[in-house]
Amino acid sequence: MSAVPHVLVSAGPTREYIDPVRFISNPSSGVMGYAVARAARAAGCRVTLVSGPVALAAPEGVTFASVVSAGDMLAALDRVFDECDILVMTAAVGDYRPAERAQHKLHKTSDTLTLTLVRTPDVLAQLAARAAGQVVVGVAAETDDVVGSARRKLERKSLDMILANDVARADAGFGQSKLDATLLFRDGREEALGMVDKDLLAERIVREAMALWEARRSKT
Ligand code: CTP
Repeated sequence: MSAVPHVLVSAGPTREYIDPVRFISNPSSGVMGYAVARAARAAGCRVTLVSGPVALAAPEGVTFASVVSAGDMLAALDRVFDECDILVMTAAVGDYRPAERAQHKLHKTSDTLTLTLVRTPDVLAQLAARAAGQVVVGVAAETDDVVGSARRKLERKSLDMILANDVARADAGFGQSKLDATLLFRDGREEALGMVDKDLLAERIVREAMALWEARRSKT
């Protein structure tokens, strides 16, 4: 572990193509992840940002990789994870992809079309399972039992911290500048932050993750 942490951030949506011109995705804007990357850079960290397709410019001073699918996201993070100190996984990774991707554009032939979808890898769970001292942070965008669901995800995926984000509110979440946020920690701690600006929240996440990293470091 170096004196300055290397922060690996994922951001944005993933896309799973059905045919060359159509895909399954979600409305993640990438704003939260890019804010985390900027905040980590401003805090003096070395930063690698892996991003799905978004309309944002890569922040200055950050090593940047652009990806499309959940599989690509896993491969790109996998290459860097062993040498990072903190992973902040804000990407909205799609959970399913079409079982088959058509080589040519699908033309309409019937009134209904049934797609068979198969699971994508759980990127965060896979990386967290092989963590060797890294601080691992996830995000849970939820519409109901927000804090309870986030706590279960933190435990299931062996995370150190998770941002619970209530996306049922029309004024928060996807594409908005503010989030209704609660931070949950592995030790049971819970910090309800209420409606908070994404830039300020990003600074807070970086501060908390760095504190966890420092505490872990001082023990080794
Ligand atoms: N995540 C991931 N790979 C996936 C799905 C999610 O790495 N295939 C990560 C997200 O980046 C996020 C965390 O896991 O940091 C929680 O994502 P979320 O979509 O809320 O959880 P899921 O595991 O998809 O659980 P569920 O489908 O039950 O909501």
